[in-house]
Amino acid sequence: MEATEPLLDAAAIGDLVLLDPLSEDSLLRTLRERFRRGDIYTYIGNVVISVNPYQPLPIYTPEKVQEYHNCNFFAVKPHIYAIADDAYRSLRDRDRDQCILITGESGAGKTEASKLVMSYVAAVCSKGEEVDKVKEQLLQSNPVLEAFGNAKTIRNDNSSRFGKYMDVEFDFKGEPLGGVISNYLLEKSRIVRHVKGERNFHIFYQLLAGGSAQLLQQLRLRQDCQHYPYLRGESCSLPGVDDAANFRAVQDAMSVIGFSPTEVTELLQVTAVVLKLGNVELSGSYQASGMEACSIAEPQELQEIGELIGLEPGTLEQALCSRTVKARDETVLTTLSVPQGYYGRDALAKNIYSRLFDWLVSRINTSIQVKPGKQRKVMGVLDIYGFEIFQDNGFEQFIINYCNEKLQQIFILLTLKEEQEEYVREGIQWTPVEFFDNSIICNLIENSKSGILAMLDEECLRPGVVNEDTFLTKLNLLFATHKHYESKETQNARRVMDTSLPPQCFRIHHYAGKVTYNVTGFIEKNNDLLFRDLSQAMWAARHPLLRSLFPEGDPQKASLKLPPTAGSQFKASVAMLMKNLYSKNPNYIRCIKPNETKAAMLFTPELVLAQVRYLGLMENVLVRRAGYAFRQLYGSFLERYKMLGSRTWPRWAGTDRAGAEALLQELAFPAEELAFGHTKIFIRSPRTLFDLERRRQERVVQLATLIQKMIRGWRCRTRYQLMRKSQIILSAWFRGHAQKNKYKQMKRSALLIQAYVRGWKVRRAYRRYFRAEASTRLASFIYRQLVQKFLMGLSRNLPPLAVMDRTWPPAPYKFLAAANQELRSIFYRWKCKKYREELPPQRKALLQTKLCASELFKDKKMLYPKSLQQPFHGKYLDLTQNPKYQKLHAVAKDKLVMADTVRKVNRANGKAVPRLLLLTTEHLILAEPKAAQPKTVLSLGDIRSVSVTRFSDGFLVLHLKETCTGAAKGDFLLVSDHLIELVTRLHQTLMDTSAQALVLHITDQFSTRSQKGDVAITVVESAKAGTNGPVCKKRGSHRMEVLVH
Ligand SMILES: Nc1ncnc2c1ncn2[C@@H]1O[C@H](COP(=O)(O)OP(=O)(O)OP(=O)(O)O)[C@@H](O)[C@H]1O
Ligand SMILES: [Mg+2]
Repeated sequence: MEATEPLLDAAAIGDLVLLDPLSEDSLLRTLRERFRRGDIYTYIGNVVISVNPYQPLPIYTPEKVQEYHNCNFFAVKPHIYAIADDAYRSLRDRDRDQCILITGESGAGKTEASKLVMSYVAAVCSKGEEVDKVKEQLLQSNPVLEAFGNAKTIRNDNSSRFGKYMDVEFDFKGEPLGGVISNYLLEKSRIVRHVKGERNFHIFYQLLAGGSAQLLQQLRLRQDCQHYPYLRGESCSLPGVDDAANFRAVQDAMSVIGFSPTEVTELLQVTAVVLKLGNVELSGSYQASGMEACSIAEPQELQEIGELIGLEPGTLEQALCSRTVKARDETVLTTLSVPQGYYGRDALAKNIYSRLFDWLVSRINTSIQVKPGKQRKVMGVLDIYGFEIFQDNGFEQFIINYCNEKLQQIFILLTLKEEQEEYVREGIQWTPVEFFDNSIICNLIENSKSGILAMLDEECLRPGVVNEDTFLTKLNLLFATHKHYESKETQNARRVMDTSLPPQCFRIHHYAGKVTYNVTGFIEKNNDLLFRDLSQAMWAARHPLLRSLFPEGDPQKASLKLPPTAGSQFKASVAMLMKNLYSKNPNYIRCIKPNETKAAMLFTPELVLAQVRYLGLMENVLVRRAGYAFRQLYGSFLERYKMLGSRTWPRWAGTDRAGAEALLQELAFPAEELAFGHTKIFIRSPRTLFDLERRRQERVVQLATLIQKMIRGWRCRTRYQLMRKSQIILSAWFRGHAQKNKYKQMKRSALLIQAYVRGWKVRRAYRRYFRAEASTRLASFIYRQLVQKFLMGLSRNLPPLAVMDRTWPPAPYKFLAAANQELRSIFYRWKCKKYREELPPQRKALLQTKLCASELFKDKKMLYPKSLQQPFHGKYLDLTQNPKYQKLHAVAKDKLVMADTVRKVNRANGKAVPRLLLLTTEHLILAEPKAAQPKTVLSLGDIRSVSVTRFSDGFLVLHLKETCTGAAKGDFLLVSDHLIELVTRLHQTLMDTSAQALVLHITDQFSTRSQKGDVAITVVESAKAGTNGPVCKKRGSHRMEVLVH
């Protein structure tokens, strides 16, 4: 024991190739120790060994997927994801179709492994709406197929009862496009019979547990599974399995895949029919002829089946209870005995179900298939039923184990035999490793002339009495001395006593153990015959799906040719499968079952050892250790890695082998890592290959950068050159244009200079013929002529002399405009002067007075405009003519300037009284009208100022100087009808006599002096003002208001 203790820690031995010392015992120990630590995956090179943990492990999380995505195979812990990743990368990057072969006995974890591989690939390949749909459809095909094709067996609660090979197709980018599923021989005998402790296919239990009351009613089913003989067993439900939830999952999956609701209903109807067929009971009787006959014992079930599939119960009853036999040209209807009837019924149920399963697979294929024409790469995942050894093994086990035998053969061929043969062929030094080659067993079964399957077919087709005894006898005869064949007879012949081998059996020494097969049912199952009456009845049904399952039921297509036997069909499809697998790069997952009780983490060494032995793991390790992980033809090797060598890149001129040698020499790998065969290079450890790949990846990146660089450089260069060319063209045009302009300019200048020079020359030459300065003279002559003409014309055309006429002829030339304007104003002023000179003196004086009035009042007092029409008479009282005014006349004498009647306002009460007013060149005299004697005589020098209002009234105040004699009485408030004239004349008189201007206030507020003090006078615009002048209102003793309009 000590000697076999592994040197390395079990956890560190991820790859059994590293195991030292290598023995069965150390190998087993390592597997056990790793298993105990939860490391269920271990490598032998790139073969993954997976030991079923029988419990969920936390190693399939999305984080794990990320960890293994693009990982270095040997840098991470062994995992199924690593092999999936390796296969996927190899497919995507090296363009090699892959297949993943998952082998192991029933319950070893193949189906789980295949699902893990699929889900990993789905998780790492790119995402997108279309891609996700494809991925989802591919993944969802699993629950549907498992429901219909898996069942609980003694060895596995979810045992695959059919073989499945799924090709997942990818495009060149590694995105999944779709897939194709192939199914292999469903174990249909399970429909009608299953061993105690097992179950029928999951779908029946799922349908009954999960179908709604309405659905069950529609399918004419009852929820109680004990009601159905086909389902009877100890228990219908499985611990830890929720059939109802699974049924919902199956329904969801079908809708994801694209099943229409009608298709789902039809599928479930046919499933229900299969189940209900088991309830059709027959009762026996005898016909008059003494022939046995059978009939339906209870018509209810048949009636319901008829309703479900749209068929007359009578037709179905006839097909179940009788049989049409064709003898020469006659057809005879013979009755069936009860066992024959039951046989027919069960055959029908089995046939319907297995055909339904085939339909299901092809329906899924229709959804997931890839449109033709697309170039694709393929990854095949094979999950086939595992090797089985039961107490009682029948035809199905024989077929299943044959298939496993073939898979083992592939493994042996590719990993052990071919590999070793190749070393020898290639001239590599090699010590052969012994291994068990199972071709002999395969040959025993499948040899087309003398194999067991061929014998079985022969028996089935042989006319005369055919039964299993004759078949067994034949085998015993043929294989009497075969090492892998045993039966009671051959044992007897060899004088071997073995009670474990019953008479009706034969035993085959399979690679995985000896299996005893009971030949009972071999012929029947191989023939797989269905009475024609039954298939015709099914074809006659109105149910579209069921009808399509039985095309041979069409009487038009009836043929007497026997269909191929189940065994030969299976052999052919296995051969196809093998061919398919051989064409791809294999990746192995070898599943090991650690115990028989499905117990979590229980490791039974004997059981595992047996599997290690028959799986040939020891030999695998040995070959792997001594052998080379990788080989490739020199040509392809050089093509792939030539960029790593300076001599081989970019072109190698010599032979491929010399190139590979030169390259590897340059890369300096240890010599023991490499071997040079005749046509291929061999690399010992995957590590070296990975190293090579890594270097290639890096170099490819460099080269890609180089190419990018060159392309970018080229692009920039061409762009630059184009721009430069364009720029040259542009600047050429521009310069040309500029030069042309410059030239034109120069030409113009030259011509000008030429003209001047020529002119100058000509002038110089002709000067003697011309007077100097003739042009100036001419110009001034012309000028003068024009002026003369203008002035003469003007004199002839003078406007009228009326002062108001301001017309004037325009200037004929622009240069005369200023002169013309000047002449116009001179003429106007002259006209005015002339007019003034012609005026008589009185009129002139009057106009002067008017002018003076305008200067004093224009725009200042509203009364002024009214005064314009008034002729200033001055003497409104005729002093000379009226004798009453003689005294006054005497006072005024010939100094009188103005005589008029005014109203004097009493300062005490505001009342106005009429007065005569005389203005002489020296005095202002006020007199009473009656007495006509001067009452007040004011010297003009005493008048300090005069105040008038802004309005159109005749109110005025004479402010007297304080020093004057009349001042004691105060200022005079007068109202005159000729106010403007009076004040103007007063001003003129003052100006004439004392050259002093009258101080005139035009205001709304002023104060006057009176005997009692100052009175503030406010002028108020009011409607109450009288029509004859303003109304003065006394307000208190010191205020007075003058109401005016
Ligand atoms: N990696 C795993 N982790 C946890 N449990 C697992 C694992 N692999 C398998 N099992 C358990 O083992 C059971 C059997 O596995 P599976 O159905 O894959 O076996 P199989 O090899 O396909 O058998 P058969 O040949 O009968 O179809 C699963 O139902 C599951 O409970
Ligand atoms: Mg399985």
